[in-house]
Amino acid sequence: MKKVLMICLGNICRSPTAEAILRKKASERNLFLEVDSAGTSAYHAGEKSDARSIQHAEARGYEMNHFARQLTPDDFRNFDILLAMDLSNFRNSLNICPEEDLISKLRMITDYDPLKLAKEIPDPYFGGADGFDKVIDLLESCVDGFLARKKF
Ligand code: 4NP
Repeated sequence: MKKVLMICLGNICRSPTAEAILRKKASERNLFLEVDSAGTSAYHAGEKSDARSIQHAEARGYEMNHFARQLTPDDFRNFDILLAMDLSNFRNSLNICPEEDLISKLRMITDYDPLKLAKEIPDPYFGGADGFDKVIDLLESCVDGFLARKKF
């Protein structure tokens, strides 16, 4: 069993969406992955995902049931791979990583996108509805590539 952690800033938009997409796509392939998500900030800790993220993800068939939490040093010990949504999240996660040996577990999720659509998953929080659909488009491609490239 592999354990995968998705990381963004607030843990209410991008990373819970990435979590839901990976969970569904893994189960469709009969892969047993443990998937979770966390934010580098505690701004929204304890909250349900953003209503707009839930609405857009559910409209496309993904189940959103995460409650936000902040990334911890122990996450680097407990998960096999940690996937950051953007470079700012990546750098902030590095600051939370407790040991040099664990840094290699942290990757950009876009590294796995076979279509190379974007270098980062853009933050949709302050934008319009289009941004939430764009996040799902990008994440579907990244997750497909992740599942194709990784040996589970
Ligand atoms: P997320 O989006 O990092 O994709 O969950 C954001 C959520 C909240 C904030 C920023 C980004 N915020 O500034 O509160």
